[in-house]
Amino acid sequence: MPLGPTPKWTRARDSLLTGGLQDPMRYVPEGSLMTALRKTIALLPGDGIGPEVTHAAVSLLNDCASAFGHQFAFREYPFGGNAIDACGAPLPAETLAGCRAADAILLGAVGGPRWESLQFGTRPEAGLLSLRQELGLYINLRPIHPHPVLRNISPLRRERLGDCDFEIVRELAGDIYFGEHKINAQKASDLAEYSVFEIERVARYAFERARARHGHLTSVDKANVLASSTLWRDTVTALAREYPGVLLDHQYVDNAAMQILLRPTQFDVILTSNMFGDILSDEAAALAGSIGLVPSLSRGRPDAPALYEPIHGSAPTIAGKNMACPLGAIFSATLMLRESFGLETESQSIEDAVDRVLEQGYRTADIAEPGTRTLGSSEFTEKIRTQLQAAPARA
Ligand code: IPM
Ligand code: MG
Repeated sequence: MPLGPTPKWTRARDSLLTGGLQDPMRYVPEGSLMTALRKTIALLPGDGIGPEVTHAAVSLLNDCASAFGHQFAFREYPFGGNAIDACGAPLPAETLAGCRAADAILLGAVGGPRWESLQFGTRPEAGLLSLRQELGLYINLRPIHPHPVLRNISPLRRERLGDCDFEIVRELAGDIYFGEHKINAQKASDLAEYSVFEIERVARYAFERARARHGHLTSVDKANVLASSTLWRDTVTALAREYPGVLLDHQYVDNAAMQILLRPTQFDVILTSNMFGDILSDEAAALAGSIGLVPSLSRGRPDAPALYEPIHGSAPTIAGKNMACPLGAIFSATLMLRESFGLETESQSIEDAVDRVLEQGYRTADIAEPGTRTLGSSEFTEKIRTQLQAAPARA
């Protein structure tokens, strides 16, 4: 393992969680948990810019593992359009088995024009929905925190954007996405269904997030029109009794879409259904100035592997041009370190390295502004790696 000169090095203690590792001579920078972890990460780079941004995130995870004495084993699997081409299905059995066996999953993006003419239900996106279903991923978390250095690229004026910082908790395993879909030449329908069980389990997570943050939960529905939303509102309201420290309010989704633009600082945690969460999270991501910046976490039971992915798509028009912003994928990796592995210091060290690179004025094309210097994705990633290697832990 490379021992950098900058940090003060300390002997690592073996992890109690992993039952101890073999190599007693690992060293970690002071300030880390001093607990060496051994983790297996399934990689699903996917299509379009997916592979470029995933590999950028992996290079930082590798640097971080070396610096802090962890061992991350990466296993890459076909998924999405490339899996359709190579194996005939967007979610091959081998990919699903690899994901189930991993400690966490890092996904790039799926889809592209090449597969758009395929029949409904057989496209790359169907692989993502099957993966969510098979792994029981019913919670989706999307943090919306426009980076202070990038405030000028937000479409909102500074005084409206304020220091907005909220999280969207989107239900991910039910609703119109997974109800019966029917289609013939004349007519089509999609069934939106929710049960109390499905609403409660995701709402609990949202209440807990709100309790750990500023204690404010906004539940978003369309209870003035939809039966599934009426059950949603009643269930969330009843559950609020168990969380007396959390202030719960409700907004209709049309109003919420407007409020996100008018006064984004009013939100702490937003809880919403699968369909509304899909739409509102893209809208909210725009506040940050580029969808390329926002990561996400999808998870189910705490003991099952969680999946991390940037919320952007496969951006086929810029794929392979060394232009894609790797930050959504990099922040997905830091979210993984924090949420799945409990590695707060390590996660922060990568985010600090990103901060320093942005403060030095380096940007990718999508987040460039006058007075900054645009780099290709790989050069931008190298700048972050250099910063991370120079100072893996905060002083
Ligand atoms: C997302 C995406 C997916 C969704 C697509 C690719 C199936 O838009 O993760 O937000 O609709 O959930
Ligand atoms: Mg979406």
